[in-house]
Amino acid sequence: MYGITGYSNGYHQNQQQHSSEEKRGGGRRRRGGRRSRHRPGFRVSDHHHHHYNNDDDDDKQEQKAPPPCTDFDMAYFHSYAHVGIHEEMIKDRVRTDTYRAAIMQHQSFIEGKVVMDVGCGTGILSIFCAQAGAKRVYAVDASDIALQANEVVKANNLAEKIIVLHGRVEDVEIDEEVDVIISEWMGYMLLYESMLGSVITARDRWLKHGGLILPSNATLYMAPITHPDRYNDSIEFWRNVYGIDMSAMLQLAKQCAFEEPCVETITGENVLTWPHVVKHVDCYTIQHDELESVSTRYKFQSMMRAPLHGFAFWFDVEFSGPTNSPTNNHIPSLLTGASNNNHIDGIQKKKRANPNEALVLSTAPEDPPTHWQQTLIYFYDPIEVEQDQIIEGSLTLSQSKENRRFMNIHLEYSSGGRSYVKESVMR
Ligand SMILES: C[S@@+](CC[C@H](N)C(=O)[O-])C[C@H]1O[C@@H](n2cnc3c(N)ncnc32)[C@H](O)[C@@H]1O
Repeated sequence: MYGITGYSNGYHQNQQQHSSEEKRGGGRRRRGGRRSRHRPGFRVSDHHHHHYNNDDDDDKQEQKAPPPCTDFDMAYFHSYAHVGIHEEMIKDRVRTDTYRAAIMQHQSFIEGKVVMDVGCGTGILSIFCAQAGAKRVYAVDASDIALQANEVVKANNLAEKIIVLHGRVEDVEIDEEVDVIISEWMGYMLLYESMLGSVITARDRWLKHGGLILPSNATLYMAPITHPDRYNDSIEFWRNVYGIDMSAMLQLAKQCAFEEPCVETITGENVLTWPHVVKHVDCYTIQHDELESVSTRYKFQSMMRAPLHGFAFWFDVEFSGPTNSPTNNHIPSLLTGASNNNHIDGIQKKKRANPNEALVLSTAPEDPPTHWQQTLIYFYDPIEVEQDQIIEGSLTLSQSKENRRFMNIHLEYSSGGRSYVKESVMR
């Protein structure tokens, strides 16, 4: 998932990604967006068995007023009206196949039950749930893509089962509780885009006790990386351009290339140490205020001598059932080292060692690539590290006050006796 328009550092390491973004106009790093009129809570489908009512309902349990739909939110939803975004997500087979497999894995729970698809997009996950035997699916999306979702549902003769609601999950009303919530809410660095808050809202408004949330938990990781090819390509290049010394360009090149986080694909070979768990999210228990700011301290020990160019971030999500609903201590012991410095092999083992055989959708460098790629925060200047050298510091990710869908990143790092601070914004 992505969002927000008009902002980008424009760099894409992955050419395929680059061209698909150009296709969407403007070489954007993320799914672009422009202004749209937002009409909260009207229903696209015409389902006769369930009364849809957007008026105040005295019988409803007391709820806090939903957060206002800002201009930024409207731009965000408008970005999802573009076909290219949905095409890219659906063509991401790792993503879409894992969701479908997870739905089928939980088929016995879903059969005959009521499902809510938070942010249904084209309706693909709602249709998978209907195919798995759901009695009824509420497919909610605030973007105009809901209009197409409704057509897709009708064309597949599922209008009696899937009710498309065109509105924010914060604003729509339904008159029953749901057994299952499914959503593909993950942004770059997991939390960028802030859609998880809408899943929390849906959970607190409608999920039955003992209900199922797919995915059930998520983990964000970070690790130091070396990437000489990337650094040489963007920076060192200026030292000798057709025999001309263009070093005067270096400062500008560093700023333009590395001021903002970059979304690129790296491999396990770029990663210098075991990853560190930045945040584990239990979708059954996470609260809104936990998402406003996430902080962690980390300490790595480089496994090789190399120039340290920055940090990579990636995430995975797990599709566990409700009975073994995980807790915040749920990270398998294979993954929890004393200092949270987890070995990459541990992640691979995690999939095999998972006692519940829960499916995992991973965006790790050593796993098959997804449209999320990895998120890289580069330093302006590399640090030469020796084998076993300590790299330590802290990280704070916080929702921007200006636009909660943007993410402020405060990174402190020190190694070899020198300390640095890097502030950046993901927008
Ligand atoms: C990443 S897309 C996923 C689309 C689809 N579920 C899929 O997997 O292909 C997220 C969708 O959620 C919608 N969305 C985000 N926040 C929402 C909210 N608060 N209420 C309703 N829809 C929302 C967006 O408009 C977008 O279409």
